[in-house]
Amino acid sequence: MANTLVLYYSATNTTKKIAEQIAEKLGADIAEIHAAQPYTAADLDWHDSSSRTSIEQHEHNSRVEIKDDLPDISGYDNIVIGHPIWWAIPPRMISSVIDHLNLNGKNLALFATSGGTNYARSQSYIERAIKQNNYDTNINQGAVLNNAQQIDAWIDTLNFA
Ligand SMILES: Cc1cc2nc3c(=O)[nH]c(=O)nc-3n(C[C@H](O)[C@H](O)[C@H](O)COP(=O)(O)O)c2cc1C
Repeated sequence: MANTLVLYYSATNTTKKIAEQIAEKLGADIAEIHAAQPYTAADLDWHDSSSRTSIEQHEHNSRVEIKDDLPDISGYDNIVIGHPIWWAIPPRMISSVIDHLNLNGKNLALFATSGGTNYARSQSYIERAIKQNNYDTNINQGAVLNNAQQIDAWIDTLNFA
């Protein structure tokens, strides 16, 4: 088993492609995160203020249920979580992922894909979720990654075992 696990959620495959490149470069295992109730195209419509994502993302501290198929992370030292940015923050299900995983003693690194929003608010969001769970986790600086060059530069910054 590799020392690093890349976990990702991707609604339209952009994050998936970056996750696969990161896993290959790190020699990591990879697994996909699924929402308990998958998102339809209508759910993802950010022009519609009553769409599922518009409602969930604007509801403070809301949680979205994930499918119960997360891998056992006990054997990994390093966990990478990738996600799209929705309304400047991670999809709410990422909080549920953090609630479900025991991240004590792990090195955690986050990345995202987006239409242009940077990782700043997502980083705060993740740090708050880690704090709410009282995990003792080494959190690396996350980044929005679009290409191989950015992936390489970000990997160089990681404090991984
Ligand atoms: C509901 C929704 C909200 C979004 N909000 C933002 C945003 O706030 N900032 C941004 O730059 N991109 C935003 N995007 C664009 C996605 O972050 C971008 O297309 C991402 O690469 C999609 O990744 P995926 O294909 O892995 O799902 C949003 C997309 C959706 C569906």
